[in-house]
Amino acid sequence: MNLTLKIWRQKNASDKGRMVEYKVTDISEHMSFLEMMDILNESLVAKGEEPVAFDHDCREGICGMCSLFINGEAHGPDRGITTCQLHMRMFNDGDTITIEPWRATAFPVIKDLIVDRTAFERIQQAGGYISVNTSGNTQDANALPIPKYDADRSMDAASCIGCGACVATCKNSSAMLFVSAKVSQFALLPQGRVEAADRVMNMVHQMDLEGFGNCTNTGACEVECPKGISLENIARMNREYLKASCR
Ligand code: SF4
Ligand code: FES
Repeated sequence: MNLTLKIWRQKNASDKGRMVEYKVTDISEHMSFLEMMDILNESLVAKGEEPVAFDHDCREGICGMCSLFINGEAHGPDRGITTCQLHMRMFNDGDTITIEPWRATAFPVIKDLIVDRTAFERIQQAGGYISVNTSGNTQDANALPIPKYDADRSMDAASCIGCGACVATCKNSSAMLFVSAKVSQFALLPQGRVEAADRVMNMVHQMDLEGFGNCTNTGACEVECPKGISLENIARMNREYLKASCR
C-alpha cells in the first residue's frame, strides 16, 4: 500500500505545532500501525530529518502507552484494541491518514504525538490502592470468600490499562471512565471497602484538580475504550461518591 500521512509535529510543549504531510510506500497490510510508523521514521532518519516521536512500550495491548488519534478516532478505526494492535489491513491503498496526539488540557503535548499523562498517576496516588499489613500477619486472600459475580466485575474494571483514550474521545475531556474503573475494582471487594469512602472522595477531588471535564453520559468513552470498560462503573462511582459525601 502507498499512503499519505498527515502527522502532528510539535518540537516541545511551548511550540505551536502543525500538521506535516509524509508519503510512505510498500506498506504491507499485515504490518501493525506502529510498524508502519517505524518505517516512516527509518526513512526520515535516512534523510537526516527528525523522526516522529510517539509513545509505545509492550506493543501487545497491555501497557497503555500507545496513544494515537487516527482519522479522528482514539486508537484508530478498529474496536476493542490499542493503537499497537491496529493493523494496516484496516486501511486501503491510496488512503490519507491523519495522526494526532490525545487532545485534552490535562494531557499537554510533550513532543509530536507524545502527551504527558502523569495526571492519571496523581489520581492513582490519591487513592488507587489498598493499605495492607505486610508485617507477616497478612490474612490469606482465600480466607475471604467473594461471590463470583463481584470478582468478575472487579476483574473487568481492573483491566483498564490507563491509556487515556476515554479522555481523548470525550467532548468534555472527562476522565470518569478511567477513575470509575480504578474506584470500582476495589469497591466491589471486601478488601477495598475499608478505605472506599476516602478513596472515591480523594480520587474525584484529584481528577477535578487536574482539569478533566465532567461526564454528560454521551458514552463515546465506552465505545473507544480498548478494554471494554463499561459505563456501569461510572454509575457505581457516582453511588460511592454520594454515599461518601453523606458520611
Ligand atoms: S477506561 Fe479504557 S480508554 Fe480509559 S484509560 Fe482505561 S482502558 Fe483506556
Ligand atoms: S504499546 Fe503497550 S498497549 Fe500499545
